[in-house]
Amino acid sequence: MKVVSIVGARPQFVKLAPIAAAMREAGHRHHIVHTGQHYDAALSDVFFSGLSIPDPDTHLGVGSGSHGAQTGGVLAALDPVLERERPDWVLVYGDTNSTLAGALSAVKQHLPVAHLEAGLRSFNRRMPEEHNRVLTDHAADLLLAPTAEALRHLAHEGLEDRAVLAGDVMVDICLSIGERVRAEGRPPAGLPDGIDPGAPYLLATLHRAENTDDPARLTALADALADLPLPVALLAHPRLLARAEEHGVKLARGAVRVGEPLPYAGMVAAVLGAHGVVTDSGGLQKEAYLLGRPCTTLRPETEWPETLTGGWNALVPRPWEHGAAAWADLAARPAPRAARGTPYGDGQAAARTVRLLEEHQVTEVPR
Ligand code: UD1
Repeated sequence: MKVVSIVGARPQFVKLAPIAAAMREAGHRHHIVHTGQHYDAALSDVFFSGLSIPDPDTHLGVGSGSHGAQTGGVLAALDPVLERERPDWVLVYGDTNSTLAGALSAVKQHLPVAHLEAGLRSFNRRMPEEHNRVLTDHAADLLLAPTAEALRHLAHEGLEDRAVLAGDVMVDICLSIGERVRAEGRPPAGLPDGIDPGAPYLLATLHRAENTDDPARLTALADALADLPLPVALLAHPRLLARAEEHGVKLARGAVRVGEPLPYAGMVAAVLGAHGVVTDSGGLQKEAYLLGRPCTTLRPETEWPETLTGGWNALVPRPWEHGAAAWADLAARPAPRAARGTPYGDGQAAARTVRLLEEHQVTEVPR
């Protein structure tokens, strides 16, 4: 079996790592296409080297741009690559512009498409990721759902015939790296200057367009982080830095210390070392849950509602409405006592995904 994986942004490299290993293990041919959506070393190269992912076979070098320019750029650049490779499966990951472009290029060429992390929904039609995931699910031939909830969403949209429960490949990588980090027993490295890794701190990230692109909202969120009662290690995505600079919003003030994004193992260590997490990232909400740290999510909804059970995750879209003391108590709350289930699977999702691709392989896609 020959599979082309299409990735372009940081969370996709994390998901690619266990898939690439399972593909190698099963002896399949695996061609990796990097679209170039993320190009900074801290968002791209360190994931390939740190997670032992083979170098991409093809690099499209598309870079940043408006949604249309970026999605269109990937689409145009992919056509000749897929035409040349003609794989048994085109595998697209998650919900970025690279995901949608990959799915479109493949269906137009009558190549079977599988969508890893299918069926997630925020039901917020203003999010670019929601457009990407809904459109990709409806275009793809095999929908690899990470959770039972995602499978229900797909059934609700009439897609159950194409959907299977594969489990979440992020569990595979998060648990294995988490074990390694715990065994090494070293304090987290690479935290912002001014954060003592041995003392309680909150780990924060903020990068979603809904939070960074409106100056009033970004200012209010920066104020809320600055007011927290523990030091805040804010690992800043380039988008956050660019928007803060553009709108004249100072991030490093009050409790907040600003640092750079971390490689994956560094991020896992930083979560394990933290008192709690404050974020708008989907992946980090789940990593906090898997690693047993309370998470506060700066959004009105989550694609990972399982993390909300037992108070492990809390949705706080407007921290300022809670009053300073209640917001501080919420974000710096201790880890709940409630047991965490295993809604994301058993850490064997990548091997299962490869088996599902084998089982559902077809020679001709009817269209
Ligand atoms: C993208 C995904 C988002 C995912 C996130 C993970 C879409 C619509 N969004 O958002 O779902 O959670 O990746 O990080 O696909 N930039 C750099 N260097 C880079 C990449 C980006 O400086 O290597 C800056 C540029 O100013 C760019 C901005 O970040 O314009 C936004 O990058 P983009 O890839 O468009 O979206 P993300 O915000 O990273």
